[in-house]
Parts: sequence; C-alpha cells; structure tokens
Amino acid sequence: MILVTGGAGFIGANFVLDWLAEAGEPVVNLDKLTYAGNMENLAALADDGRHIFVRGDIGDRVLLDGLLAQHQPRAIVHFAAESHVDRSIHGPGEFIRTNIEGTFTLLEAVRAHWGGLAEAERHDFRFLHVSTDEVYGSLGPRDAPFAETNAYQPNSPYSASKAASDHLVRAYHHTYGLPTLTTNCSNNYGAYQFPEKLIPLVIANALAGKPLPIYGDGMNVRDWLYVGDHCAAIRAVLTRGRTGETYNIGGWNEMPNLVIVKTICALLDELRPDAAGPRERLIAFVKDRPGHDRRYAIDARKIERELGWRPTETFETGIRKTVRWYLEHQDWVAHVQSGAYRDWVEKNYGARQ
Ligand code: NAD
Ligand code: TYD
Repeated sequence: MILVTGGAGFIGANFVLDWLAEAGEPVVNLDKLTYAGNMENLAALADDGRHIFVRGDIGDRVLLDGLLAQHQPRAIVHFAAESHVDRSIHGPGEFIRTNIEGTFTLLEAVRAHWGGLAEAERHDFRFLHVSTDEVYGSLGPRDAPFAETNAYQPNSPYSASKAASDHLVRAYHHTYGLPTLTTNCSNNYGAYQFPEKLIPLVIANALAGKPLPIYGDGMNVRDWLYVGDHCAAIRAVLTRGRTGETYNIGGWNEMPNLVIVKTICALLDELRPDAAGPRERLIAFVKDRPGHDRRYAIDARKIERELGWRPTETFETGIRKTVRWYLEHQDWVAHVQSGAYRDWVEKNYGARQ
C-alpha cells in the first residue's frame, strides 16, 4: 500500500480517488483536517476497504512511527501543507510548522523506517514530495518558463516554506540516499478546491451575486493545470520517475487573472443565466496582495520527454468541467463556507475595499 499525507485536501483527495480508480492499490491517508481538509471530499470511499483514513499531524513522530510499522507502505506521497499565499501573509507560523518542521519530521520517520527494510524493498521504496512552481519566484513578461534547473527565489512565506521543504527532501536523497522524487506544479483547479483560491472563490461569489475581487490590475499571470492531469502526472512520476530528480508539471496554459475571471463569468452566464445581468458587472478591483508575484510559467518538457506525460485537458474543457462541478455541488460549497470561512473573508478582504 501507499501512504498519502494531506489526502483530505483539494489535490490530495483528487489523487486518492484517482489512485484507487486507476491503480487500485490500498491507501493510508494521514490528514490533520485543518480548515482545508474535508471528509466530504472522500465520501465516495466511505465503504471502500482500500482506504484507511487516519486523523493526525505529520509533525507527530510517534504517530508516524506507528503508522509506518503497522502498514509498511512501499511509498509516501506527501501533499500535506498549508497552501494559501494570503494566509501565509497574515500568519506565517503555521506554514513554518507544517511545511518545514512537519516535512522534516516526516522525512526523519521515513528515513528510520526505510533504513530497516530489506535490500530489495529499500531499492523500490519511494518518497514523492509534492511542491509548487512558486519556489522559483516571479518571471518578467519575456522570461523563459521555469525549468527544473532554475534558481530558487521564493517571495512569499508560503513559497519560502515550500522551498525549505524541497531543500530538505533534496538533502535526504543526497546525504542518506533516500529514494525521493519532487514535483513542482503550477496552479491547479478542479473539483473540491476550497473557495479561498481564485477560481472556486469567483464561482461561489458570482453565483451569490457578490463582488469578484481582483488584486491589483488583474494582469498577474499564472499557468493553470486541471487537477486530474496533475494526479496523472504524479502517478507517472511515482511509477517511472528517476529518484533524486525533480519534475516540473504544468498545463502549457498561461493566463492573466482578469481573463480567468471573465471566462468564468461567461460560462456561468451560459449555464446559469442571472436575471440581474452579465456576471462581469460584479468584477471589483481591490488592493493588491503584498509582494504579489507577477508571472509564473512552467517548462514541462522534462516530464514529457522522460515519462511521456502531457496534460489532456485544455483550459476550455477543464474550466467547463469545473464550473459544472461547482453548480452540481452547491451543498459542498455551503458546508465549507462555515463561520471560520466567513472570518477569513472578513480578514482578507475587509481591508482591501
Ligand atoms: P489544501 O490546502 O487544499 O490541502 C492541504 C491538506 O493538508 C488539508 O487536507 C489539510 O488538512 C492537510 N494538512 C495541513 N497541515 C497538516 C499537518 N500538519 N498534518 C497533516 N495534514 C495536514 O492544499 P492543496 O491545494 O490540495 O495542495 C496540496 C499540495 O500541493 C501542497 O503541498 C501544495 O503546496 C501543493 N501544490 C498546490 C497547488 C495548488 O494550486 N493548489 C499547486 C502546486 C502545488
Ligand atoms: P491563488 O488562487 O491564491 O493562487 P496563488 O497565489 O498561489 O497563485 O491566486 C491566483 C491568482 O489570483 C494570484 O495572482 C492572486 C489572484 N487573486 C485575486 O486576484 N483575487 C483573489 O481574491 C484571490 C484569492 C486571488
């Protein structure tokens, strides 16, 4: 079996569902269930004996040692993290604790476990660390996209904490020989994404007739990847990736935020027309994010060349699926928009108007 961390969050839950459908191998899913973790994402697995859910912290060494000894996973896929840049600006402490100290504790537990395996199992073992393109910093309009060889230049507490965890993973391979793999992916979108991130926030606000907040001039550029394509890429890296290597994963789909928001407005107008008029009327330019990275772009040629992976969704097909999913799962959105969510909206947007 494999051990997944953070498998009740957005990408982790998509991965667990995808993994059980595609590979069918049992999963132990360790998740702390922070505000971002949600058992509703895994409701389809409630009666599936191949999925063992454990609520706990990756910083809990005793728990980790027990899980590794009991389940003897052949691989770890590490998603658990604090993941939202704006939250890292308001409160970086939790990012240091989970992304850096938590990853360190996990690496230490895994190193001890791996060191005790028989030779063949040691050789086949894998530790896959899921990271972000944000570690590379910000690009100018004409800069080449991020390659695996780019220098790390993280600019936010979030990206700095992910960069630190990437360095630890690298060091554990180099120093101890732990068979690691690191993936650095661009912005994901799709089902089960918490509505603090741009795309689900805009869908939820547009449906509720609320303002669609755009930071700065709306011309910050991100590369967007449909989450199902990310899951397939992780499966490819886990199965065929060369240990000690990093693989950049992207959608070949750079877009300014304003275009993303207008695309969502047009889709909602088509699928769920609003008597009050086109959703674009709700667009509201608000105070920019401090230190807002201007542009991210991914050169995903290495993973294509070595592992034969390319995204299958275009933005047009992926965003249509995503908008439809949110239209069909408004209960899910309503449940996560709890009191704590409303506090966050007030904290992040209250001072931007
Ligand atoms: P998310 O915030 O939706 O989910 C994170 C999950 O980790 C949650 O279920 C949460 O409960 C769990 N978690 C947090 N702290 C924990 C701890 N100390 N112990 C155990 N579990 C804990 O994040 P996501 O968007 O699904 O991102 C998953 C991973 O992918 C992260 O490592 C993130 O840095 C990386 N990533 C995300 C994106 C993106 O666009 N969302 C892009 C590239 C890389
Ligand atoms: P986000 O989804 O937070 O991802 P990241 O910052 O990790 O790329 O934001 C995506 C882009 O959208 C980013 O340039 C910030 C911008 N943004 C807004 O303009 N308004 C918002 O309310 C949010 C949450 C993000």
